[in-house]
Amino acid sequence: MAQWHFDPDSYLAMVRAEIPSYDALQLELAEATETVAARTILDLGSGTGVTAQHVLAKHPGAKLVGVDSSDAMLRHARVLLPNATFVVGRLEDPLPAGPFDVVVSAFAIHHLEGPRKADLFERVSSVLAPSGRFAFCDVVVPTHPVPRPVPLEEGVDLPSTVDEQVASLERVGMQPVVVFAEDDLAIIAADRV
Ligand SMILES: C[S@@+](CC[C@H](N)C(=O)[O-])C[C@H]1O[C@@H](n2cnc3c(N)ncnc32)[C@H](O)[C@@H]1O
Repeated sequence: MAQWHFDPDSYLAMVRAEIPSYDALQLELAEATETVAARTILDLGSGTGVTAQHVLAKHPGAKLVGVDSSDAMLRHARVLLPNATFVVGRLEDPLPAGPFDVVVSAFAIHHLEGPRKADLFERVSSVLAPSGRFAFCDVVVPTHPVPRPVPLEEGVDLPSTVDEQVASLERVGMQPVVVFAEDDLAIIAADRV
């Protein structure tokens, strides 16, 4: 049987074609964590490590743990960031033990249905350090027709609205702020209070 080979360059080229603002959003997400003096960081859905790389650039010396269900993707993240720890795991399962000063996620949480997102937000809140920040960037259900929407795969991509996610974060006692929202893309940051 032929061995499946994951090519990170083709993968990232495809993501950048589907989301032209991919790199700008990664930078903006990292910037949204900048005012927290982070020594410990958790990255949810690390993929090939692009998000972790941007966030670590803002917090040099911090210890980062990344979680992703795909070992094939994480193999590349481990080469990119040899000092970080990347573990295979599902966002639906218990998170690595905190406390984390910052929890980030890019383009991963939309793979969970609404109630699973709410459950994840509760578990994120419980691994955040006091005054820690959760910031994530993702595809969302837009409030208006979008000229060039991010292509979605039925049953795999399950975006929610910004308002739904803000409400879920508030329900678990966090203080969310919409850092960026345009068409079907958003960045939300929520502090543990
Ligand atoms: C579009 S990639 C984003 C990767 C990286 N954060 C970035 O922005 O380049 C989504 C990642 O989420 C992971 N993922 C999807 N569903 C997941 C789940 N339920 N649990 C853990 N990881 C998941 C995929 O394996 C993939 O690496």
